[in-house]
Amino acid sequence: PDGLLSDALGRPLRDLRISVTDRCNFRCSYCMPKEVFDRDYRFLPQSSLLSFEEITRLAAVFALHGVTKLRLTGGEPLMRKHLDDLVRMLAALRTPSGEPLELTLTTNGSLLARHAPALRAAGLTRVTVSLDALDDAIFQRMNDVGFPVGEVLAGIDAALAAGFGPVKVNMVVKRGTNEHEIVPLARHMRDHYGPQVVLRFIEYMDVGATNGWRMDEVLPSQAVQALLAEVWPLVPLPARSPGETAQRLAYADGRGEVGFISSVTQAFCGECNRARLSTEGKLFTCLFASRGHDLRALLRGGASDAQLAAAVSGLWSRRKDRYSELRSASSAPDEPRQRIEMHYIGG
Ligand code: GTP
Ligand code: 5AD
Ligand code: SF4
Ligand code: SF4
Repeated sequence: PDGLLSDALGRPLRDLRISVTDRCNFRCSYCMPKEVFDRDYRFLPQSSLLSFEEITRLAAVFALHGVTKLRLTGGEPLMRKHLDDLVRMLAALRTPSGEPLELTLTTNGSLLARHAPALRAAGLTRVTVSLDALDDAIFQRMNDVGFPVGEVLAGIDAALAAGFGPVKVNMVVKRGTNEHEIVPLARHMRDHYGPQVVLRFIEYMDVGATNGWRMDEVLPSQAVQALLAEVWPLVPLPARSPGETAQRLAYADGRGEVGFISSVTQAFCGECNRARLSTEGKLFTCLFASRGHDLRALLRGGASDAQLAAAVSGLWSRRKDRYSELRSASSAPDEPRQRIEMHYIGG
């Protein structure tokens, strides 16, 4: 293989997001609403999940094709047992030029205090924690399992203590649900952590089919930024890498930075270099793809590394996805289409 791939729109492949479990101990209404993900919901059986060996083998193929960053997601990735073993295996991979890969984790933080030191020792390079409110009552309502915010904050502290700083914190903003938490959460992060925590505001997206998404529940990043700027002057920062999801702004007083992920009002498909590997080994070339490509079947059918590499390069070179751009270009409501749930494909 030649190494550097590009898709049908000229975009390279750089970032592989790997979902290691479809389970989660939270029931955020925008992701796994309780009414759907109840006691009768059938999660994937263990035999359907890619094993750590299978994940590592695929990740090695992706690294050969230009991937320099791996992100472990879920569901809640720390619900997968012995995740630090997987981290250790992935940390041993190298790019064709001999560099280790960036190895990151997106977690709800609930189990992070317990696992941060082992993950660090295993070679994880960064963590991102989801946190939608500082107020305990609002947070407990949003995770819908009564999980206390203090334990997530303790998870962030543990991650910093283990050497993961700066830690990114993701807040999904829903108008009418947690918009009044924007300034308090920002204040807390600034006061307690300064530049060691980067808070990012995510526009509520129409992923999946179960969350009953409505445009009027999206608070555009522009409005979030205006709320913050009323309290603290902000100055724009240059993008760090092409295809970055977040627009970055610094607090003018040097207390760190914030980010805005505006996939609804300002789509960023133009340089999207992300592929997603689902819990059961399907490759999705877009967060909004309606179907994935079964790499597990190839793996378990005895494909060689060269055959796997050819499958990946074939899929990527045909990729034309730019869902968010298309959706914002059309004024008509989105046609009903089958979509993949976020807890299955990962953020
Ligand atoms: P880093 O900044 O390097 O940590 O990576 P990142 O920006 O990909 O971070 P993260 O995984 O925390 O992603 C943040 C959120 O952005 C995700 O949870 C999604 O909500 C959203 N997001 C990430 N990638 C995409 C994408 O390709 N398309 C869309 N529409 N949203 C995305
Ligand atoms: N819109 C925006 N972000 C979402 N996430 C989950 N569902 C949605 C949605 N509908 C976020 C989580 C987490 C990341 C993995 O994705 O809060 O930060
Ligand atoms: Fe779990 Fe994250 Fe989905 Fe919430 S957003 S239900 S924490 S996977
Ligand atoms: Fe990439 Fe699809 Fe998200 Fe656009 S909508 S940025 S193509 S994952």
